[in-house]
Amino acid sequence: MAEKKTLNIAVIAGDGIGPEIVREARKVLDHTAAKYDFALQYTDLLMGGASIDVHGVPLTDETIEKARENGAVLMGSIGGDAATSPWYRLAPNLRPEAGLLKIRKELGLFANLRPAYLYPELSGACPLSNKDGSRSFDLLIVRELTGGLYFGARHTETVNGLRTATDTMTYNEEEIRRIARTAFETARKRRKKVTSVDKANVLDTSRLWRAVVEETAADYPDVELSHMLVDNCAMQLVRNPEQFDVIVTENMFGDILSDEASMITGSIGMLSSASLNETSFGLYEPSHGSAPDIAGKNLANPIATILSAAMMLRYSFDMEEAADCIEKAVQKALRDGYRTADLMGAGENLKRCSCSEMGGVICNYI
Ligand code: IPM
Ligand code: MG
Repeated sequence: MAEKKTLNIAVIAGDGIGPEIVREARKVLDHTAAKYDFALQYTDLLMGGASIDVHGVPLTDETIEKARENGAVLMGSIGGDAATSPWYRLAPNLRPEAGLLKIRKELGLFANLRPAYLYPELSGACPLSNKDGSRSFDLLIVRELTGGLYFGARHTETVNGLRTATDTMTYNEEEIRRIARTAFETARKRRKKVTSVDKANVLDTSRLWRAVVEETAADYPDVELSHMLVDNCAMQLVRNPEQFDVIVTENMFGDILSDEASMITGSIGMLSSASLNETSFGLYEPSHGSAPDIAGKNLANPIATILSAAMMLRYSFDMEEAADCIEKAVQKALRDGYRTADLMGAGENLKRCSCSEMGGVICNYI
């Protein structure tokens, strides 16, 4: 008999609600493995505040090496309350977020895929004008994740007696070309439309971005390309999100636009993400943060993490059917009225459930 396929997964539960949402995602993965007859090998790793508490730094080189030995990383969330947590009295390069930026860079995770989909079941929670419930959008933000302002040189100095800070934004054409390719390839599997978002009326990096995206488009004649300025895009996302299929943009613009896109789906607790390198390796995490105010209370919405686990099966392990099964189970839970606290809006016969109950309901539908 053939050996069962084993998926090696590094797990970074992280801080705040991280451990509780990751617990539910693992539960769902375990059920999926039983159904589709594969095995899971988890390796728990520390990052963010949890790593600071043990090692004094948010990410050790050893952790990076261990992550690399796996097929994928499943992550919860990292960070705490900046006003009260001692982690934020450390130098910026020792704070929890620095661990996340370092793992992205070290593992070459340049392509961040953030889908924003309005479930018909949640259309009542969409904050946009949607009186007749007719809104339906399904877009994907492809965010460049290892370049731009996040990784440019920065320093603070005194110039002419004034405290002066500098951050630099740099992109080379290869960094732009590879993320553009990711966007076109992904669009081919969707509705074949790419909107490239930049600030080409002001920034040199954006003018290069636009030129390189145009050049790359020549290899994808079947995909329709348009360009949009980032301020206009922020406006269009709340005016008419239906117009978008794939949005490709640089790191900082993508950070901002993806929070906006997630909120118009009704709750930031629904949105998954994948951060991929040139191979099938990826890090999968919810788009939301660590919500320290509700941590440990079994109140968090685990769906974004569960959907991230589905993305992991699809992108890193090529298990489309099992990924679909998880996504359908989430939709069934919503259809049958199960809602965590963040999703309790208008609606008939809604059943309020905790984080672990939501995980359990989704497992039952696998
Ligand atoms: C995100 C987060 C991070 C980012 C922070 C925590 C550094 O906001 O993943 O969007 O800005 O990339
Ligand atoms: Mg962000």
